Formats: sequence, structure tokens, C-alpha cells
Amino acid sequence: MDAGSSGLVYLSPPCFALRMPHSKSVSSHLDLDPLALRHAFASFATGVTVITALDAYGNAVGMTANSFGSVSLDPPLVQWSLRINSGLHRSFVEAKQFAVSVLAANQEVVARQFASRSPDRFAGMDMIETPGEPPLVRGALAHFVCKKVNDYRVGDHELFIGEVLRATAHEGSPLLFHGSKFSVLRID
Ligand SMILES: Cc1cc2nc3c(=O)[nH]c(=O)nc-3n(C[C@H](O)[C@H](O)[C@H](O)COP(=O)(O)O)c2cc1C
Repeated sequence: MDAGSSGLVYLSPPCFALRMPHSKSVSSHLDLDPLALRHAFASFATGVTVITALDAYGNAVGMTANSFGSVSLDPPLVQWSLRINSGLHRSFVEAKQFAVSVLAANQEVVARQFASRSPDRFAGMDMIETPGEPPLVRGALAHFVCKKVNDYRVGDHELFIGEVLRATAHEGSPLLFHGSKFSVLRID
């Protein structure tokens, strides 16, 4: 579950009850109130990434994703998931590599553009281009260039596992996503 399907609408007040009887298994999902579930998922604060790839024709594709996460140090593995009805599903399934740019606090505009349905999400974006590799967002806090090692259809998402080929990180504050809103760390 990702923020995209819940949109950027802030749900308030913050109290929705999840109906999940102990006696029932996961298959009791029909008892779940979808709004309550989205709200509960949205309470988990995350960083924000832009995931890029080159499609089968060598064209760059990219989207904002907060489902990214680390999986393993040895071997170095990461994961992220994509809605299977996304317009970019086929491109990412066919791609051999993907790259992850972890956005900095001042890159909300980048996150919004790569979450949009703009026909050219790269328009006006400052990208680092390397021939034969997915482009990276310049100024991001971290970059991971990954070889896709697996993808699985899990529910309404495709789960991608990538082996990290290169990773770089820079000092700075991250862009955050919480309660379906962008946010930054507050320094008290
Ligand atoms: C903060 C944020 C995080 C998102 N995370 C994901 C994600 O992890 N997976 C996903 O499929 N969509 C995610 N989305 C939604 C996609 O960015 C958005 O649906 C997509 O770029 C729109 O194009 P599409 O309809 O072709 O998918 C996220 C959106 C936002 C604003």
C-alpha cells in the first residue's frame, strides 16, 4: 500500500476503528473499512524516493515512491512496490535495473512532479545522466543503482527486489511523508 492510492488528502479527525476480529484470518479483509486501513497505513512516517528505470526502448521512466526499504546488507538488497494498474507497471517489470533517489527536505516539488500524471515527469527536473543507466535526481540525499533480481505480484502491487550495485549518501535533512502529507523533520 502506498501513498499514491490514498492521494494527498489529509484525513481528519485521526480516529477510525479497524474491525479485525481475532477469530478471523487475513481472508477477512472484506471486514476492513478501506478508509480506516488507508488511514492506519498513512500513520507510518516514511522518507520519499523517486524510482527511475530505462524501459525496453531505453526511455527513462520515473515515479515517486515511499514503499522503498532496505532488505539485506549481505547481499545488499532493497525493495519497493508498485501498483499493478500504474501506467508505468510494464516499464518497470521489463527494466533490468532501477535507481532510487532519496529526496531531501527541499525537494517536495520533485516528489510532486514524479507523482503526477504529467506526460513528461522529467521536464525541468535536474537529473544526473549516465549512459545506459536510469537517471538520478541531483541533490538527493542518497542514490542506489540496483540490478533487479526479482519481482513478485503481491495483492494489487508488484514487489521489486534489487541488488545494490552502487550507493552514495550525502549529509542533509530528508523529505518525509506522514498522514498523506509531505513534512520535514522539526529540530527542537
Ligand atoms: C509520497 C508518495 C509516495 C508514493 N509511493 C508510491 C509507491 O510506493 N508505489 C506506487 O505504486 N505509487 C506510489 N505513489 C504514487 C505514484 O507516484 C503515482 O501514482 C504515479 O506516479 C502516477 O502515475 P501512474 O498512475 O502512472 O502510476 C506515491 C505518491 C506519493 C505522493
